[in-house]
Parts: sequence; structure tokens; C-alpha cells
Amino acid sequence: MKIVVTGGAGFIGSHLCARLLEDGHSVLCVDNLLTGSEQNIDSMRANPHFTFLQHDVTQPFNFAAEAIFHLASPASPVGYMEHPIETILVNSQGTYQMLEQARKQKALLLFSSTSEAYGDPLVHPQREDYWGNVNPIGPRACYDESKRLGETLTMEYYRQFQLNARIVRIFNTYGPNCWHYLSLIPPVRCLTWGIRKSIQCLSSPRPLSGCARLHQRSFLNPAVSMIQNVGDQILVKRSRC
Ligand SMILES: NC(=O)c1ccc[n+]([C@@H]2O[C@H](COP(=O)([O-])OP(=O)(O)OC[C@H]3O[C@@H](n4cnc5c(N)ncnc54)[C@H](O)[C@@H]3O)[C@@H](O)[C@H]2O)c1
Repeated sequence: MKIVVTGGAGFIGSHLCARLLEDGHSVLCVDNLLTGSEQNIDSMRANPHFTFLQHDVTQPFNFAAEAIFHLASPASPVGYMEHPIETILVNSQGTYQMLEQARKQKALLLFSSTSEAYGDPLVHPQREDYWGNVNPIGPRACYDESKRLGETLTMEYYRQFQLNARIVRIFNTYGPNCWHYLSLIPPVRCLTWGIRKSIQCLSSPRPLSGCARLHQRSFLNPAVSMIQNVGDQILVKRSRC
């Protein structure tokens, strides 16, 4: 399949691109390098099935794709607090651009959201039917609220156009290619935090239909696998249509 990965030069996106290539797909990685790095995709450059386009996905561009994995967005507090307007735009305008492309091309779309959609949750662990406790005017709102808007847009395309779309809410993840966590959080704290949260995740309920959720915190491979699995569900569903 021809697959577009926005934010493909970032931490999770670069691993997802590599995984999709391994599985025999053609990958167009689109990234404006706001928080990503060309180093993350260096090893894929020689692959004839891999193309890199440096582009801001809030702006229209032409491409052909059967699936779009929309991961573009600063993810760390450092990233989104340094680029608040860009963060709002990529999750709203950028998501709209990708949804429109998906609708026109009858492509499949996966929107990467975040556990921050719950804000400062009052319920632990968070369930799908918990809507969160979000501050719309605080310094983190550029990220939290724009992800929520991205989810809302995605659901409207799902309802109005029967777009084959999925939302994944990723919990904090770190690993190779992730500069911000490794540079800012002492590894030991990161690890214990990850283990604690993973245990919490294991006790969480299964996702509701129409909106899939990642309950993997802190381990990269499960996160990439789950994004890919949700994508695979889309592919399976589509081939049955
Ligand atoms: N890493 C985590 O713990 C975590 C947790 C929850 C959600 N997520 C989500 O997963 C996705 C990837 O996160 P990450 O950790 O890999 O972050 P990252 O910052 O490493 O990657 C994001 C990529 O998006 C690119 N980008 C940003 N704005 C863009 C634009 N307008 N046009 C094109 N490219 C743009 C950046 O240059 C970067 O390469 C994000 O959507 C993020 O919100 C990540």
C-alpha cells in the first residue's frame, strides 16, 4: 500500500515508517522538521519505497495515498510550549487537510491523539466514557485542546462521510530517536514511571468502537505496534467493504 506518515521524521513516526517499510509498504514521510530530525530517517533514505517530503501539513499538497497516519505535532511540553501556535494549527488545520485528502482519495486515516485529551484527569485509570478535566486557557491547552479538536474533526468525518478513520490516544512513550525525554528526565525516574503506568494500563478496559485507544505508556515498541495494529484493523475493514 501507499502510506503517508505525517510527522515521520519524529520519534514515533520514524519507527512507524521503518515498520511499514519492513512490512512491504511504500511510505511517503511528510515532515517540516519542527521538532523532528532528518537523522531519524537517515537509515531509510536508500530504500526505494521510502520518500521524504519536507513540508508543513497545515498547507495543502498533492499526494496519492491509500492510508494516512497523521502523527505530525510537537509532543513534549518543551516542544509545544515553544511552538504553541504551530501545535494548535497542525492538530486542527493540519488534521483538516489530512481528513480532506483521505475523504477525496477514499483513503484510510489514523489520527494520533494523546492521553492529554483527559487533561488533569479526576478518574484513574481513565475510561473511554470519561471526558476529562481540561483547562482550555492554560499553557498546555495548545496541545490538549488542539488534540481534542483533532479528535472532534476526525469523528465528524467518520459520521458525515463514513470515512474509515481511527483515533489512537497514546500515553507517554520514550525510546531511541526521542531526544526530549532522554535529555530531560533521569532514566531511572522515567523507567519507574513507565512500569507504574504500564501496570495501570494493563488494568484498563478495552477500547470502545469507533475510537481506539493506546494504553501503553513509556515503551516504544508496543506503541508503534498498537498504531500499526489499529491501522491494520482499518485495512482489514476496508478490504471487507
Ligand atoms: N511521545 C509521546 O509520549 C506521545 C504521547 C502522546 C501522543 N503522542 C503523539 O504522537 C505523535 C508523534 O509524537 P512524537 O513523540 O514522535 O513527537 P515528535 O516531536 O518526535 O514528532 C512529531 C513530528 O511532527 C513534525 N511536525 C510538527 N508539526 C508539523 C507540521 N505542521 N507539518 C509537518 N510535520 C510537523 C515534527 O517535525 C516531528 O518530526 C504526535 O502526534 C504526538 O502528539 C506522543
